[in-house]
Amino acid sequence: MDMSQPIGVTPLDTQTGGPVGRPIDRVDGPLKVTGRATYAYESREMKNPGYGFVVTATVAKGRIRDIDTASAERMPGVVHVLTHRNVPPQGEKKEQVGPLLTGTEIRHAGQPVALVVAESFEEARAAAAAIRVTYDQDKGAYVLADALAEAKKPEKARTPPDSSLGDFEAGFAAAAVTIDARYTTPVQSHAMMEPHATIAAWEGDRVTLITANQMPNRGQDALASVFKLPKDNVRLISRFVGGGFGGKLQPQADAILAALASKNLNGRPVKVALTRQQVFTSTTRRSDTVQRVRLGADRDGKLTAIGHESWSDTTPGDSFFETSANVTRSLYAAPNRLTAHRLASLNLLPASSMRAPGEAVGMLALEGAMDELAEALNLDPIELRIRNEPAEDPEKKVPFSTRQLVPCLREGARLFGWDKRNPKPGSVRDGQWMVGHGVASAARLNPLQPAKARVRLDPDGTLTARMAMTDIGTGTYTILSQIAAEMLGLEVAQVRMVLGDTADPMSSGSGGSFGAASSGSALYMACEALRGQLLAKTDLNPQNAVFTGGRITSGNRSAALRDVIGSGLEAEGEIKPGENEKKFSQYSYGAHFAEVGVDADTGEIRLRRMLGVFTGGRILNPKTARSQAIGGMVFGVGTALMEAVEVDPRFGTFVNHDLAEYHVPVHADLPEIDAVFLPELDDKTNPLKSKGLGELGICGAGAAVANAVYNATGIRIRDYPLTLDKILEGFTAKETGQRRA
Ligand code: MOS
Repeated sequence: MDMSQPIGVTPLDTQTGGPVGRPIDRVDGPLKVTGRATYAYESREMKNPGYGFVVTATVAKGRIRDIDTASAERMPGVVHVLTHRNVPPQGEKKEQVGPLLTGTEIRHAGQPVALVVAESFEEARAAAAAIRVTYDQDKGAYVLADALAEAKKPEKARTPPDSSLGDFEAGFAAAAVTIDARYTTPVQSHAMMEPHATIAAWEGDRVTLITANQMPNRGQDALASVFKLPKDNVRLISRFVGGGFGGKLQPQADAILAALASKNLNGRPVKVALTRQQVFTSTTRRSDTVQRVRLGADRDGKLTAIGHESWSDTTPGDSFFETSANVTRSLYAAPNRLTAHRLASLNLLPASSMRAPGEAVGMLALEGAMDELAEALNLDPIELRIRNEPAEDPEKKVPFSTRQLVPCLREGARLFGWDKRNPKPGSVRDGQWMVGHGVASAARLNPLQPAKARVRLDPDGTLTARMAMTDIGTGTYTILSQIAAEMLGLEVAQVRMVLGDTADPMSSGSGGSFGAASSGSALYMACEALRGQLLAKTDLNPQNAVFTGGRITSGNRSAALRDVIGSGLEAEGEIKPGENEKKFSQYSYGAHFAEVGVDADTGEIRLRRMLGVFTGGRILNPKTARSQAIGGMVFGVGTALMEAVEVDPRFGTFVNHDLAEYHVPVHADLPEIDAVFLPELDDKTNPLKSKGLGELGICGAGAAVANAVYNATGIRIRDYPLTLDKILEGFTAKETGQRRA
């Protein structure tokens, strides 16, 4: 089925008491906490593997002059050293998945230059350290702020890089109140728990990779191109993935190099894990951005002009750009509008998607600027947003499928106690702490991806579902089990999900907040087909048949499922995006509320409490949904207060590249945090009437924290993250100003 019409009434609406919508525990929880969930590097499915260790470039731009592998090759246990000199022939780069070791050119520090394979990990690592690489080094470009003038309009863009409506410049010039603000955000790293890892082996002209990957089918496509194989000759298996956040959307060096080395070793399995440092330096990153937001409003706070321009960067030859301003095209009403994206070419690690690419950093700027405008207007920031609520998508000129931004703001204000906030910055004290409150909107695009699923109902009443979907820690195994159980009237324990293998039906994988909707809808369709088969074997009226408690019931008659199954039944289901994508503007929405304390002497910022109120269509499992929302908010807190990869502007290397020095929030940083969902069903999105949640929680979260810091101190920091040195500069500037006055 494709989504070109509203879905109508479904069994998920009419059947009551089933597992969908219940906060059940994760079905994979026991496997995880007892260590029986097998991650890629732990797999023992492939026997006698060689252990690979990646060697990476220490310069950011130039050429390999020489790579001396002789002493490494003589070291104990070494079975192979793979470099550009002996790498098997490779095909074309696809979906940002490039051939590796293709020559001597170095485009960024951390670029893989060799792989050592040995009988043990330790032997491989020791030999890797013995490889001598010398470079002819060129001067590279590493600083976005210095490259703005040369930045180009991105060429290969899925969405148009620019948009305009009305006359922005004239509207902005004529506005009664204006904000013209430049925000900057740093390079970020996904910092997932599990470093990238793969075990790969060839059999003839077929290669299998057990790998940590978010989207195995896309990975299969891309690797087929790189290895010059028909797609069906490449198999990816990702049963358990220890987080991704976008960093595992594409196969990385571990996968490509493990497979290439295995090929050179006549198919012997090769396993490669990246070190924590290599995850930072040799996979992908979120680009730093420079953003200019211009807002013009009348005295009543109605926006007359809204402009958002964004600059980001990536490695020479790459095309990914951060779509920071896309969300600005739909969030608020205004007759005169402008958005633009420019991409600079820097000798840094390739940029790619990181949780809520676009919105996550775009809303730091937009929602900060909205806070600035509210203050300039002497208007409550929630009221400002309410006054600019659009009746339809302001640029696409189509209705919203559902949009509850205002209810989220209002309910959040009530739950958080927004009415007790003092709007005057720097006026609330709690001992040494300057206390402040901030708000920001949340919005994240709701996409649907093509997906298929196959289900089999066995005579004992157990259901097995198969698809190349992944669970990257989000709860996919659980919500899919709930959907199948509900559709067929089974217990969740009677459902077995087999995920992560491209030998099974194609699925969306996990990314872009489309995973649950896409894979869940395919599973729903497969179960719907199975219901049809079962009903056809009874004389029950299909119009009002209900599947619950292991029985099919219609009116006052019913049949036990087991009596109908026979020798077993199979069905397939499929979902595709359709016209509803174009006919409706589809976003998940929410509102963030943050309270911070800023130490009046040291400038230390502590989050005191945080609340998110969200809508995401049907909530399939309130427990896993809440975890996703809170996880996103935690990401937002990190973005606001601590996360940054520091690029050395002299050498283009990353100064911090581990979890000791790339700071992410820990429990002690998050004293009180909660997420709640308002009821919603969206019949335009997918058969489940759900919307994406994985990335919604980060969108706007950091801005709410930054706006709270402003409310606490009167210091507006537009350069993320907000670290105490920047607060101290603000204190100093204030003191100097006071002394002058
Ligand atoms: Mo997401 S950044 O598409 O994993």
